[in-house]
Amino acid sequence: MGLAKSRGLNPRKLAGDVVARLDLSGICESVEVAGAGFLNFRLSKGRLAETLSEAIRGEHLFFDRENAGRNIVVDFSSPNVAKPMHVGHIRSTGIGDALQRAFRLLGHSVITDNHIGDWGTQFGKLLLGWKEMLDRSALATDAIAELERLYKVINAQCDADAGRLEAARAELVKLQAGDPENLGIWREMVSLSQVQFDALYGRLGVRFDKVLGESFYNPFLAGVVADLLACGMARESAGAVAVFSDGQLPPREDPFLVNKEGEWVDDPALIRKSDGGYNYMTTDLATLDYRISQWSPSEIIYVVDDRQTSHFKKLFSIYRRWKPEQAKTVRLVHVGFGKIMGDDGRPFRTRSGDTVRLRDLLDEAQERARKLVDAKSPELEEHQRAEIARVVGVGAVKYADLLPNRQSDYVFNWEKMLALQGNTAPYLMYAYARIRSIFRKVDGGWKPGELAPFILDAPEEIALASYLINFGLTLEAVAEEYRPNFLCNYLFELAGKFTSFYEQCPVLKAEDPQIRLSRLHLCELTARVLKTGLETLGIGVVEQM
Ligand code: ARG
Repeated sequence: MGLAKSRGLNPRKLAGDVVARLDLSGICESVEVAGAGFLNFRLSKGRLAETLSEAIRGEHLFFDRENAGRNIVVDFSSPNVAKPMHVGHIRSTGIGDALQRAFRLLGHSVITDNHIGDWGTQFGKLLLGWKEMLDRSALATDAIAELERLYKVINAQCDADAGRLEAARAELVKLQAGDPENLGIWREMVSLSQVQFDALYGRLGVRFDKVLGESFYNPFLAGVVADLLACGMARESAGAVAVFSDGQLPPREDPFLVNKEGEWVDDPALIRKSDGGYNYMTTDLATLDYRISQWSPSEIIYVVDDRQTSHFKKLFSIYRRWKPEQAKTVRLVHVGFGKIMGDDGRPFRTRSGDTVRLRDLLDEAQERARKLVDAKSPELEEHQRAEIARVVGVGAVKYADLLPNRQSDYVFNWEKMLALQGNTAPYLMYAYARIRSIFRKVDGGWKPGELAPFILDAPEEIALASYLINFGLTLEAVAEEYRPNFLCNYLFELAGKFTSFYEQCPVLKAEDPQIRLSRLHLCELTARVLKTGLETLGIGVVEQM
């Protein structure tokens, strides 16, 4: 209709002309012109059945890897050293991991890089604390808690006393100048943190191809600043060095301007502080340049919360002005996300008002899942119940985080995320386990046959079959728009279509052996898609629940 309008043609007539020239034999049963100029396509049942048979034979699972030419760097998780990973880290870690899994599944090349915050001003304070008041036994029990304590004490002292702040700065300067003692302590802090990170990544099932922390880029920072000064993009300002607007964009779109009381004023990007230290931005510029020169990606995505939107706008803009040729070869994307809120409408915290540690959160998830499993399946063995609780608990937290549109804030709610009804991980895992239990009841065990002729007659069979084949489109949409929630919603719908099918169409009790086999194969494909889909979200499945 859009085409007809722009060409001044009659839409119904145009639609008829399109149909006349369209050859969809073997794919569609008929194409009809309807209403004001709509085209209705009716998928051929034969084609649908054939596609399902191909999938049973393992030729595909409704997606293809042929057109996968993207070479994507995924920057995600990126926690800071000497701090506990908290509930907020589930967001970048879970979204980033789901995206990289979807890219890989579709056959794209992926490099995941954990840009750990292992350098920066906090180390001045930490070094001072370490030297003056480190409690070795506390460090051995819970290193991160001890580092956090040191930081808090010194930070409070620095706020109150300029002399202490000066002392912390002096430690930082020594570290940056390569003082062996300070470097040694710093290395120990980094490796203690890495132990914590690794334990949590292990529980979450997340791995990285590269872990190049901020400190890795130290040797490049002076060069970045010198370059930007030399090409005139940066200039000194009150002893610091900063990049300003080049005036090329309307103020509204210019990342280096902000509106204050109706006036556009400079909001420059700092790249060197007045004390000679470098900024987060400087490191990110060096990192970006390194990634492009080393890995020649077609795309770099940063899975970082929306509070850093302005940082990334500036980063991308500086890079494009600085290295226009290189910048042309790569798509730079900030994949932002909102906050996790508590019931009270404020950011989610513990009862005492502290940030919720990721470790504690996962522990609690597992405990709560354990209660569910104990109540639902007391007949299972202890070790089975423990394993189910682990997979369900972690899966529930991850799924609840992936389900909302990533840019919106969402309310953290244990009951909701662990419910067996509704759009939750336990519901989907249960749908999978239920199918597996059907297979356990097949005499002689279930093995999908090589020849799987599908008989699709009941409306529920057709609805399930035609929804299964949407799996690929869904994955592509996830990878295109960086939105794992599309996959969550697809799997939820799929489970619903499966339920209707299972309620209406007897499987094991089907009288005709051909129909029984066809239905078992529909179960098989649903199970495969559910499992692959959940795994793409970084969520495991269990055989029994
Ligand atoms: N460590 C940073 C933070 O906690 C996130 C880093 C994100 N990645 C990046 N290349 N800036 O805020």
